Amino acid sequence: MKVLANDGLDKNAVERLEKDGIYVDTTHYEKDQLFNIIKDFDCLIVRSATKANKEFIDAAKGTKLKLIIRAGVGLDNIDVEYATNNGITVTNTPNSSSNSVAELVLGHMICLARYITISNITLREGKWNKKAYTGVELSGKTFGIIGFGRIGKALANKATALGMNVIFYDKYYKNDEKYEYLPFNEVLRRSDFISLHVPGIDKPLIGKNEFELMKDGVFLINAARGGVIDETALLNALNTDKVAGAGIDVFMEEPTPNAELCNHPKVSVTPHIGAATAEAQMRIGEEIIDIVMDFDSRLNTMVV
Ligand code: MLT
Repeated sequence: MKVLANDGLDKNAVERLEKDGIYVDTTHYEKDQLFNIIKDFDCLIVRSATKANKEFIDAAKGTKLKLIIRAGVGLDNIDVEYATNNGITVTNTPNSSSNSVAELVLGHMICLARYITISNITLREGKWNKKAYTGVELSGKTFGIIGFGRIGKALANKATALGMNVIFYDKYYKNDEKYEYLPFNEVLRRSDFISLHVPGIDKPLIGKNEFELMKDGVFLINAARGGVIDETALLNALNTDKVAGAGIDVFMEEPTPNAELCNHPKVSVTPHIGAATAEAQMRIGEEIIDIVMDFDSRLNTMVV
C-alpha cells in the first residue's frame, strides 16, 4: 500500500507504517503535481493545507486512490460527499486534539482577562503600563460554550476547575448530567466569556445581531473555524467596547490578510495552532496507524 502524507505526519507514525511494509511519502506536492501523482497512491493524508475538493476528486477518481484521511477534526477542506460518491472513503481523527484545543482556548481567555498579550507588546516597546492593566478573574464568571462535543466538554471540565459557571448550547445535544443547556440566544445573553466549538459553516453564526444580544464587555474566543464569526462585525464590536477581548485562532481566510484584527489591542491571536502540540500530533499519528493498517488488511483480503 502507498500513502501520501501531503501535509506531513508525525515521524513515529511514519516509522511504524514503514516498518509494517507501507510506503509513505511525506513530500508536500503543490496542486498541479499532486493532481498528477495522486494516481500512484492508495491513501492520501491531509491536514488543512491540502484541499481535496471536487477538482481534486475529479483528478483522483478511477485511480487506485480509495482513502482520504484528515489528520485532525474539521473536514471543511474535503468534499466528503463527492469523494464518497466516487468510491473514495473519507475519515478523520476526531479523538486526538480535543485537550490541546481546550487548553489553547483557556490560554487565550487568561491572556485577555489579564492583558497578558497586550502588556507583552507594550512592555517590549519600553512602556510600563501597570495602571492600565487591571484585569478580571475567570473564577465566578459565566462561561457559555457554543457546540458541546468533545472539545466543548473538555473545556467545560477545565473551566469548572477554575471556578467558572458553565452553560452551553448545542444544536443536537441537550441533556447533560453536569452542565446546563440553554437556547443559543440565552447563552449569548448570559455569558461573560463565550467560546465557539462548531464545525465550519457557510454563513457566520456570530454577526451584528448576535453581538447585540451579548453583554457589554463580553470576552469571545474562536478556535473552531474562521467563517463562524463575521470579522467585520467583530471589529466593530471591539471598537465600540461591546467585546472586551477576542481570542482568535482561526480566520475567514488563512493565512489571514486581516491586519486590523491581528493588530487590535484587545485581540489575542494565534495562527490556527489549536491542535499543534506534540501530544495531539502523536495521538493523531496513532489514530492514523490504526486506520491505515485496517485499510491495508482489507485491501489484502480483497486481493486474496
Ligand atoms: C482540526 O480541524 O483538526 C484543527 O483545526 C487543526 C488543524 O486543522 O490544524
